[in-house]
Amino acid sequence: MDKNEAQLRIEQLRKELEEHNYSYYVLNQHVISDFDFDMKMKELEKLENCFPEFFNLNSPSQRVGSDINVEFEQVEHSYLMLSLSNAYSKEEIIDFDKRIRKIIETDYEYVCELKFDGTSISLLYENGELVRAVTRGDGVRGDDVTGNVRTIRSIPLKLRGNNYPASFEIRGEILMPFKVFDELNAELEQAGKPLLANPRNTAAGTLKSKNSSVTASRKLDAYFYYLLGEILPSDEHYQNLQIAKKWGFKISEHTKLYKNLNEVFDYIDKWNIERHHLPVATDGIVIKLNSKKLQENMGLTAKSPRWAIAYKFKAESAATVLKSVSYQVGRTGAVTPVANLEPVLIAGTIVKRASLHNADIIQNLDIHINDTVFVEKGGEIIPKITGVDITRRHPMFQPVMFIEYCPECGARLIRNEGETVRYCPNDNGCPSQIKGKIEHFVSRNAMDIDGLGQETIEILFNYGLVKGVADLYRLTKENISVLERMGEKSAERILTGLEVSKNVPFERVLFALGIRFVGETVAKRLVKSLHSIENIKSADFDKLIEIDEIGERIAESIIDYFSKKEHIELIDFLKKQGLQFKIDEKKLGIQTDKLKGLNIVISGTFEKISRSELKNLIEQNGGKNVGAISKKTNYVVAGENMGPNKLEKTIQLGVPIISEDDFLKMLD
Ligand code: IVH
Repeated sequence: MDKNEAQLRIEQLRKELEEHNYSYYVLNQHVISDFDFDMKMKELEKLENCFPEFFNLNSPSQRVGSDINVEFEQVEHSYLMLSLSNAYSKEEIIDFDKRIRKIIETDYEYVCELKFDGTSISLLYENGELVRAVTRGDGVRGDDVTGNVRTIRSIPLKLRGNNYPASFEIRGEILMPFKVFDELNAELEQAGKPLLANPRNTAAGTLKSKNSSVTASRKLDAYFYYLLGEILPSDEHYQNLQIAKKWGFKISEHTKLYKNLNEVFDYIDKWNIERHHLPVATDGIVIKLNSKKLQENMGLTAKSPRWAIAYKFKAESAATVLKSVSYQVGRTGAVTPVANLEPVLIAGTIVKRASLHNADIIQNLDIHINDTVFVEKGGEIIPKITGVDITRRHPMFQPVMFIEYCPECGARLIRNEGETVRYCPNDNGCPSQIKGKIEHFVSRNAMDIDGLGQETIEILFNYGLVKGVADLYRLTKENISVLERMGEKSAERILTGLEVSKNVPFERVLFALGIRFVGETVAKRLVKSLHSIENIKSADFDKLIEIDEIGERIAESIIDYFSKKEHIELIDFLKKQGLQFKIDEKKLGIQTDKLKGLNIVISGTFEKISRSELKNLIEQNGGKNVGAISKKTNYVVAGENMGPNKLEKTIQLGVPIISEDDFLKMLD
């Protein structure tokens, strides 16, 4: 392919890929399969590698970020990043309207918007391309986080259409959708790591990650609500937003234009309730004057515009009495303090318990039993204690002292250096840890054993039938069916579930063992690289940290796990029972539909895999290996020394060329 052809193809691919990003991430429409998208991306990356002169930071290939750490540069905002004054009642909105009416004598309209609860961002576009993204900072200067912002798929790198101003800024909010946040926390929980507090802080932290590939992996989203520039398309804020939508920005469909305050109040009432069904966090409503000219007439105060106000949803908090503190011991031995409260109604639900997280938080709050405490509950977070009403403290109230011994087994708690969490070190004797480990072992993403819920495990444990994971495989129909609430049917169900679990693939067995910090992803990585439990057991620190996503802490934890005799015995026992402790070789031959309907030509010689293996892989995954290149060929997998005629024909017909690595990655 010559330079001109390459340039044309690069441009075409970039355009197509951005169009697909837009459909998927802004419009929520799925128009191309992931596979086809990946193939186009691979082709683009390959061409960009071959023709580095066409490198462009706004190419969709740059959205994966980079793992090079960067320090952020501080830059000055061209327009100050103001905040909004807040209102907590409808009366305050009426006062806001009165202040406007005093100055503006004509009719005016309001735009009502959701107040997104994320982290604000200002984007600068020049000639239709994203050139800079800056955080709010102190309102005057912020951090240049352009590299990270480029990885957010719903943010256009190039604008659509051509009627945008040569230069303008757009402001909005970067958010982590609840779904992404929950998934992230579920992963952390499984890996026994501390959980993240809320999507807002997580989005802000992610946006400021020094490593843009981390930002890319966290699936942030962004909504925009404010345009700035010398020349804007319209004098109306609402109209500008609708036009910006056409340029490719995500503008909330819930942004509405109203003529009077009653409509504004209806909007507030509606979203006060419906906000709980949105995919992202909101903490209020923003009311803005629609006309830019009238906005100018109203002007600014030192910190915020006089033409807008934020109505904040009711602070969902209440005061109540702390009755006691209890301590929960998780499967990893981590001890979490939980506050038992006088029941109180917050945001429509009765709250009786709140997390106190760890000893440092208890100390910082200086909390005493019987204190009146403030409890907060965002729709999205576990209730938490935010403060203490000292004025209501009696001198006889006793301070909460974090326990020193495990409430379940009496072992002295330990605290690892640099960690706030306290642990019960009695891995094998502490009932809570044992039950937690069994619950984890049988859970859906681990061994997925039917019929064994938390209650059943409690019963089996209390009767002394199961003292650890291994005992599950020693259960018999006779000893299960005599237990309370268990008949023959439930006994059979459990035994069948245990039998079926012997086919569960190795990566899930490894995850099920509950090694600290080895969550699902890490387990998969370990299995993919090391193939068998023997190899994992004998891998040293250096070998382990060479594996993708495995850092020092995880490596140490793995080594520690395998240094214990009881763990080796457990694995030997489970192996004897028939559980899978090595990668399933047949699995490599398993059929998938990943290449369904695709005609693929193989050409040249390969490094990692033979031509016949390649052919098998194509067929096993539903594709067709064809000999000659034609218009119908979808891909050419090219190795070294591809024949010149084949190469020419491939280019002539515009068939994408991929390497053996690309091909293997596709099948993963
Ligand atoms: S307008 C000059 N509109 O709230 C007006 N802000 O307290 C600038 N926010 O820093 C802001 N949703 O991060 C505006 N629809 C919305 C908003 C919104 C969320 C955030 C933004 C701003 C803060 C002000």
